[in-house]
Amino acid sequence: MDKMVVMGGFQLNGEVETSGAKNAALPILFSTLLAEGEHTFFNVPFLKDIESTSDLLTTLGCQIERVGPALKVQVKKAASLEAHYDLVRKMRASILCLGPLLAKYGEAVVSLPGGCAIGTRPIDLHLDGMKALGATIQLEDGYVKATAKKLVGANILFETSTVGGTENVMMAAVLAEGRSVLENAAKEPEIVDLANYLIAMGAKISGHGTSVITIDGVDKLKPATFEVMADRIEAGTLLIAGALTKGEVTVKKIKHESIDALIVKMRECGFQIDIGSDSVTVRKASGWRAVDITTNPFPLFPTDLQAQFMALMTVADGTSVISETVFENRFMHVQELSRLGADITPKSRVAVVRGVKMLTGAPVMATDLRASASLVLAGLVARGETAVSRIYHLDRGYEKLENKLSNLGAKIRRV
Ligand code: EPZ
Repeated sequence: MDKMVVMGGFQLNGEVETSGAKNAALPILFSTLLAEGEHTFFNVPFLKDIESTSDLLTTLGCQIERVGPALKVQVKKAASLEAHYDLVRKMRASILCLGPLLAKYGEAVVSLPGGCAIGTRPIDLHLDGMKALGATIQLEDGYVKATAKKLVGANILFETSTVGGTENVMMAAVLAEGRSVLENAAKEPEIVDLANYLIAMGAKISGHGTSVITIDGVDKLKPATFEVMADRIEAGTLLIAGALTKGEVTVKKIKHESIDALIVKMRECGFQIDIGSDSVTVRKASGWRAVDITTNPFPLFPTDLQAQFMALMTVADGTSVISETVFENRFMHVQELSRLGADITPKSRVAVVRGVKMLTGAPVMATDLRASASLVLAGLVARGETAVSRIYHLDRGYEKLENKLSNLGAKIRRV
């Protein structure tokens, strides 16, 4: 079991490039099931979750291979229409094969993903959307069994903003008969990236990126070529790493619009943040104020940066109130940060962080993807050595994070 060992006290300076966005690449890879033939993608990150997705697509009849900078997906009629529990339990996003399989083949058998560390993660809104499009859904033996002779366009109102739900229903609606209108649709940039790939394949979509997405079903889609957007969560994580170590870091290949909520908050703390056309720079700061954050759907503060921002608040001047409104249990990093000397009082969905002068290195344990990033960040400034165990969580969503941080001056190694 790999560990990440970080020696605190080294300032990060310089430039770093983001990799492709995990949360755009995953739905886009599943959308290839909608069109037989060869799909070509660029900027697909090398991550465990991409491997898991490739494994599942392979069982569904696809052939996936890296050819130089490209990732090619060869799709032919699905060999099987079942996404097995063994694969789905490793990555909940596997549920995103439901919409494409249902739309293309009229049936799908997908294991219920089950919960994960950060919450129960239900899929009721995914299934409600499929039913609205005319699918029959049965839950048997831990599997979703979906059938539909032909999906028919419908008006669908999501009672809560759901990224995966919006993506799944979009991928089903593009081959449905007639018009679908998705209301209270998620507006995350990753939704826009998926919509742009579906349009590249011939889908008729408008309103993506707003809360009302209109889709006119077409008979057939064809494979295309596409470059996946930059990973805005990785970009935010790297900016916070620079800020935390009082350094000056420029993150390249990132559209500031995708992380404006973080930029606003970091400026409130007192950091100078400069915007480039395709980069964001955090300037050196000797100290920073504690500020409150509340996580919400895009364009507000992303839940996927909450744990990382909390690390920044542990050594801020003052007290920060951090409210997590998206997931019910996304404070697993609090106990581990406290082992490093942070002063945090967690309630159910609110954590009060009192800034301390200094953190002290210690062995800590990662519990989920973003919590592991938060612990690595804290290790960058904790006095002495911090060893983060169970970093397989980190490898799900960060490509060579230790290399990126070392290149900026961090003393970090994988053991
Ligand atoms: C996506 O998860 C991301 N994952 C998550 O990133 C991210 O935290 C989340 O969106 C919110 O931005 C991928 O894109 C692969 P949701 P998703 O459906 O789609 C409730 C990371 O670290 N809900 O927007 O599962 C749900 O319980 C991961 O990269 C229902 O109630 O998130 C949650 O409270 C973690 N019923 C809220 O909605 C449903 O049917 C938001 O979930 C679906 C969701």
